[in-house]
Amino acid sequence: MAERVRYICKECGHVQTGWTGKCPNCGAWASMEESRVFDVKGSRSKRSGSERERAIPLSQVVSEPSERMDTGLEELNRVLGGGLIRDSVNMLTARPGAGKSTLLLQVSMNFALQGRDVLYASGEESTGQIKNRAGRLFKELNSHIYLLSTNSMDQVIREISRLHPALLILDSVQTFELEEFGQRQGTPTQTLRVTDQVVQVSKDPSHPMASFIVGHMTKSDEMAGLRTLEHLVDTVLYLDDGGEEGLRLLRATKNRFGYTGEVGLFQMTAEGLMEVRDPYSFFLTKRDKPVTGSAISLQKEGSRFIPVEIEALVSPSYEPYPMRIGDSLRRDQLNTLVAVLEVRAGYRLDQRNIVLKATGGIVIKERVTDLAVLIAIASAADGFPLFATDAFLAEVGLTGELKKAEDGERRIQELSRMGFQRVFVSADFSCENHGPLQVIACQDLSQVLDRIKREGKGKRTGKN
Ligand code: TYD
Ligand code: MG
Repeated sequence: MAERVRYICKECGHVQTGWTGKCPNCGAWASMEESRVFDVKGSRSKRSGSERERAIPLSQVVSEPSERMDTGLEELNRVLGGGLIRDSVNMLTARPGAGKSTLLLQVSMNFALQGRDVLYASGEESTGQIKNRAGRLFKELNSHIYLLSTNSMDQVIREISRLHPALLILDSVQTFELEEFGQRQGTPTQTLRVTDQVVQVSKDPSHPMASFIVGHMTKSDEMAGLRTLEHLVDTVLYLDDGGEEGLRLLRATKNRFGYTGEVGLFQMTAEGLMEVRDPYSFFLTKRDKPVTGSAISLQKEGSRFIPVEIEALVSPSYEPYPMRIGDSLRRDQLNTLVAVLEVRAGYRLDQRNIVLKATGGIVIKERVTDLAVLIAIASAADGFPLFATDAFLAEVGLTGELKKAEDGERRIQELSRMGFQRVFVSADFSCENHGPLQVIACQDLSQVLDRIKREGKGKRTGKN
């Protein structure tokens, strides 16, 4: 195995041939560590010489069937591209406390319930601690899960050869070391070599095994020394705990076997991570009476649509520069929409603070939510009521004109399925109703505002 000396940044994983006091990639000081690196032997290096030497026409390549296994969690299956590939290596990253160990223990249990053996190796917790967590999560414990508390990757490999599990959990990769490399756990060389070992044993054709390796993230949301591992593994999953109400969003930032746009929704509860199967009721504040400053739109997340409830608060400002707070929306986008409301609908907001937020901590990123943002702010500023059974689906141009929503028909169908009663859209749509859902096509922002304000003065009552 060819060995070379390289300097690897502890913070971002940047690799270079010489030492520098500051990492040229992430700017961290004194973060470059000397490491012996070896030519990485991927699974490909195991293939026979003849196959490696000659190129074969694409049409003659025999495709390898990839068996997908059910993780028992629909939300996780979806992010993986339809289940867990039998010999895949998956990296799960998140900040401490997000729920990585909980999620993987739940997956282990689901595998065990299918009669598949699981090896759960932890370099962080004792077997007793893991058992306590399992005791809180599951009513009955299952003998298909094998726990191993160690920092020795050599021992993990020995147990893999003894048990031949269908699933390996390595929690976390930074806490394991291989004797051969004589370095302490957590150094870039050790994490790289440990990951390489996992890849090799997982892809052993005689005993294929799926693996999840947990990767810690630092406080600054950098994957501590994990960047170099990304090219070794098949998928990189990120469990985002940025939202509120225990919401966890699972996304794939890399997926060799599927699309990376999917999002899995979970909620951390006392009984572990629960799948959010019905985003409609999860994201919307349940209320019967109309309120001011809250409008609903529908945003695309991966292959499905999630309702977003946008709340606005408008208050007098006593400072020369009023506040514009909107964590869920880009600042320039918020300022642009406020300007549209001022110029095209005649609102005076120069001496008023505006706070904007999407419930559930969802980030507003689709322009189709523009109309809901504007209506929420206008309602908060003017005090006219909005109904939780109304939805708003249109991008709003600088002229105040409503623009056609992308995938509008599908969004309208989805709103109808969720039980909304009315949806405001651009004039491109026909006003044909979809079941009980009334489609209201409007030219511009003023037309929508006029109608809602008129109704607020008493024409519309209750939930109709
Ligand atoms: P954990 O899975 O240990 O996070 P990670 O491995 O990412 O560091 O769990 C994180 C938090 O979740 C912990 O503070 C306790 C809480 N928790 C629950 O709220 N409910 C539960 O059922 C479990 C197991 C944990
Ligand atoms: Mg953990």
